[in-house]
Parts: sequence; structure tokens; C-alpha cells
Amino acid sequence: MTMQAPISIAPGHVLPPRYITRHVGIFGATGTGKTSTAATLARGLACPVLILDAKGDLGGLGRPLVPWRHAQLSVSLMGADALARALDLSEAQAGALHIALAWASDRGWPLHTLADLRGALNGVLTAPDVGAAYGLVSPQSVRAVQRSILRLERGSPWAFGPRVMDPAKGQGVAVLQASDLAAVPGLYGAFVADLLGRTFDRLGEVGDRGAAGLVIMIDESHLVFSGCPPALVQRIESVVRLIRSKGVGLVFISQSPADLPDSILAQLGSRIQHGLRAATPRQQAAARAAAETMPGNVTAADVLGLGTGEALLSLPDDRGVPKPAAVARVHFSDLAPVEVEAPPVHFSDAPPPPDLAQVEAVEVAKLAPRWAWPSGWQVIGGAAGFYGLALALALAR
Ligand SMILES: Nc1ncnc2c1ncn2[C@@H]1O[C@H](COP(=O)(O)OP(=O)(O)O)[C@@H](O)[C@H]1O
Ligand SMILES: [Mg+2]
Repeated sequence: MTMQAPISIAPGHVLPPRYITRHVGIFGATGTGKTSTAATLARGLACPVLILDAKGDLGGLGRPLVPWRHAQLSVSLMGADALARALDLSEAQAGALHIALAWASDRGWPLHTLADLRGALNGVLTAPDVGAAYGLVSPQSVRAVQRSILRLERGSPWAFGPRVMDPAKGQGVAVLQASDLAAVPGLYGAFVADLLGRTFDRLGEVGDRGAAGLVIMIDESHLVFSGCPPALVQRIESVVRLIRSKGVGLVFISQSPADLPDSILAQLGSRIQHGLRAATPRQQAAARAAAETMPGNVTAADVLGLGTGEALLSLPDDRGVPKPAAVARVHFSDLAPVEVEAPPVHFSDAPPPPDLAQVEAVEVAKLAPRWAWPSGWQVIGGAAGFYGLALALALAR
């Protein structure tokens, strides 16, 4: 493994390698230099870096990863709570979703795609004795969930499938095109929670080994937490706290520190605060809060007065103590624009979703006239049917 050298952020300001796993926050209004600073950091890292690119402007930093090939969410892995949030379900609808997932899980059926989930929902409606074992499921709730699934499919067609990412297998700098995920409220948060959770589970303890073995950069972090259910925030929080022992450093990139929950902000060992703008009372309050939470004597005026590429830096010293914030011009990293790979028109694992306008008026019963097998089971079911028929024909002779 390459030795990690101290990372020079700006003239006279270095980030000591052992504090990369104490996590970093990069904040600033649009156009103040966050992307360039993230690039400077990524280029200084000797370990694999995974960048979640929510806006499509970080592609020039490394090998592009497209979700339909590398980084999908699995319905079962995501779980009912996070999914209910992404689907924006009412309590009754979330109840139906819980039952469908539990019912499929008890039968050993993994649900990967939204089509699988649709099958399970139809299953709980049509299978006998579901009510007695799991509680009553109303057809209205299921129908509403089905409609929400369609909306999700149309907004983010490639988000769900069997190709979940293995964060432990990264090499060099990889940039995940996450704009599809970020476009649907709740989905980005669920994805980040799932990714961090799996990263944590996959990697072994390394203790305080001195440098990061993996860095994950989360662009547009505010989208992770806006409207994120408290249970999910808590899950992310606890992983952020513990993942350091696995040698993972996290970089949160967002407009304002106020975008992050306090409990996560409090865990950032390094902060790079670019300029903020204060056109509204809320933005003024955010600038004050940003200044007050920096170590040293920083005022809102200092944060508001930063020019493009300038930042207030609060980096730990060699002993890990945050140094008083100081203004510096961050090294500029130019990023060539890249061609973003367009999704395939047809994708064998996820057929193009039906047209929402047409389907909303159609009864669920017509959407899936029979009990639909979850994919995978479809093959087994089909094979069983074929051999059963062959056997019957042989016996009939
Ligand atoms: N450190 C820097 N020094 C000089 N110019 C910079 C620096 N960082 C950014 N810029 C300029 O500002 C523009 C916007 O920067 P960018 O990193 O895209 O901002 P953000 O990501 O905060 O919206 C860049 O195109 C670049 O010209
Ligand atoms: Mg940017």
C-alpha cells in the first residue's frame, strides 16, 4: 500500500494523514470552490476514494461508476422504514409495505427490484391467511403503494436492482453518478445509510492505524439529511462515529454546516469553510452558526467576506487538536467536464417502467392479474411448471 503523505490543502496548511478518518466537512455557497477543494483532497489521497456525485460535476475526478451496473439499492436490504420514506407513504401504506417485506422474507424470497416488491404486494393481497398471520392489508393501501412505486421507478429507474456495491473492492478514485438517487427525496439518504452500513460490516477493525484505507466523499450532503426519518439519521450517525475504526474517512460536502445534524457536525475533525451568502435571514443565521462553530475567533462577517477559492480552515494539528481557524486560498484543482454515460434504453434486470399516466387509472388486479413471482423465483417456477408438464405427458402415455 502506498504511504499516505500529509495532504496540502492550501499553502502552509496540511491535513495530517491519521486525521483523515476523523472526517472532513467542506462547506460553502454555490460557486465558492467546494468542488475544486474536494478534488484537491481526492488527488492527495493514497487510498481508494469513492465519490458520490449528486450533481454530475465531479465526474472528471476518476473512473465513472454507473448505478445500473455497479451500485443499486436492494429492496430487502434497504428495509421497510427507509423505503416507506423514499416512497412517501402514509402510516397505513407503510404498514402494508412492512407486511409485504416480512411475508416475502419469511418465505426466503429476496426482493431486489421494485418489480419484485410489486409481486410481493400482490402476493399479500391474494395469498390466503396473510391477515391472520401478519395483520390486515387493505387493497386501497396496496394500490397506493403500487402507485408510489411507479413514481419512484420513473424518477429513478436504475436505483433498484441486484447489483449492490461492494465498497471494500474499490480502487483508485471512483465517481458514482448519483444524480438519479439525489433527484428523489429520501432515496439519497437511504442509499448513503445502506452504503455506509455495508462498508462498516464488510471491513475489519484496523484500530488507529495512521491513515485511511478508504475515503467516501458525499456531495450534496444536505440531500442525505433533508426529510430523513430520525431512525435513519441515527443509523448514519452511529456508523459515522464507528467507521473510523475500520479505517474509513468520510467527507461531507454541502452548502452550509447547518445542513448536517449537530451530532454529525460534531464528529468532523477537519472543516473547510468557503464563503457563504446572506441574502435571507435564514442564510444570515446559517453564516452566524458556521462562524460560531469554528474554533478561534471567527465572525459571520469573516465567513461572508471569503472570496472564491478562499476558505476558513480548521484542521487538526499533529496531536489531533483543532487549530484556530485561519483564512487561506485553497489549492485550485481544475476538473475537465466529462461525458456522463446515458442509461441503456433496455436493461434486462429492470424493464422500463410503464407510463404512470396510463397505469394510475388501472386496477392493481389488472397490473398483475395473477400472483407474480419475484424475479429469480420466476425462473424456478417456470422450470417446475415445465418439468411438471413433461412428467404428466410421460405418465399419460
Ligand atoms: N481554489 C481556487 N482558486 C481559484 N479559483 C477557484 C478555486 N476554487 C474554485 N475556483 C473557481 O470558482 C469556480 C467555481 O468553483 P467550484 O469548485 O465549482 O465551486 P462550488 O463547487 O462551490 O460550486 C471554478 O470554476 C473556478 O474557476
Ligand atoms: Mg460544486
